[in-house]
Amino acid sequence: MQLGGKTVVVTGAAGGIGERYVHAFAEAGANVVAADVPAAAGAGAELAAKAGDRVRFVAGDVTDDGHWAELVATARDGFGGLDALVNNAAIYQGLGAKRSLTELTADDWDTVLRVNVRGTWQGIRAVVPAMREAGGGRIVNISSATARMGVPGFVHYVASKAAVEGLTRAAARELGPHGITVNAVAPGLVTDEATRALNSEDYIAAAAGGRALGREMVPDDLVGAVLFLTSGSGGFMTGQTLVVDGGVVFT
Ligand SMILES: NC(=O)c1ccc[n+]([C@@H]2O[C@H](COP(=O)([O-])OP(=O)(O)OC[C@H]3O[C@@H](n4cnc5c(N)ncnc54)[C@H](O)[C@@H]3O)[C@@H](O)[C@H]2O)c1
Repeated sequence: MQLGGKTVVVTGAAGGIGERYVHAFAEAGANVVAADVPAAAGAGAELAAKAGDRVRFVAGDVTDDGHWAELVATARDGFGGLDALVNNAAIYQGLGAKRSLTELTADDWDTVLRVNVRGTWQGIRAVVPAMREAGGGRIVNISSATARMGVPGFVHYVASKAAVEGLTRAAARELGPHGITVNAVAPGLVTDEATRALNSEDYIAAAAGGRALGREMVPDDLVGAVLFLTSGSGGFMTGQTLVVDGGVVFT
């Protein structure tokens, strides 16, 4: 994948899936600036210690420009540059129980859209100067297959992920002339801590049964798509969303 020596920023790194991305990048020889909220600083420090010298953890909020400045500075000062960003942080486990759209409040809506959409755009905006200076870069935004399936109970989350895909396309057009690719990965239902907290075992089993591949999805199933899009091999793809769901949504 030609990731050796590259530096990647991964947000939401203390979550079930983000942690797997961090390990996969480190195993591929990349340096990783891993980020998550201050409340996850303990888990982040543990992750960095486990992953080795190539991983540094920075705590902060993706809706805070100061946090983004620190992430870019850590990549530059600690590893000599910034080649890729994986915008993985989102309010997902934090959604709590599924609720009808008539029960959601405007605050619920604003909180989810603020982190999932605005935070993703803030990340792109923060890394672009360093990537332009370097002559290019790779950005991968994490969407969700729910944006295409229209899963009920989380309309604000589903709307936020559809917005992430629109943002991906527009940013791809705007940043293409600078050699920066912008793509998205839309995972299906991954059986991790967050999914178990939000869904019943029956729901998870039914989701697995409805897949062409007929099994539960694990974080590792996403690694190939994310590494491909951040690597040299994915260099002529931009503005796309890869759905990785074991065969539920066919695009
Ligand atoms: N688990 C699934 O089935 C599934 C399916 C489709 C898409 N996704 C997406 O994959 C990504 C990772 O999901 P996950 O299952 O690990 O969920 P998760 O809820 O465990 O992880 C999300 C991470 O983002 C962090 N985060 C939340 N708000 C933040 C903020 N304001 N600033 C910085 N970090 C913040 C959380 O602390 C958490 O570590 C998310 O974008 C999610 O929407 C997950």
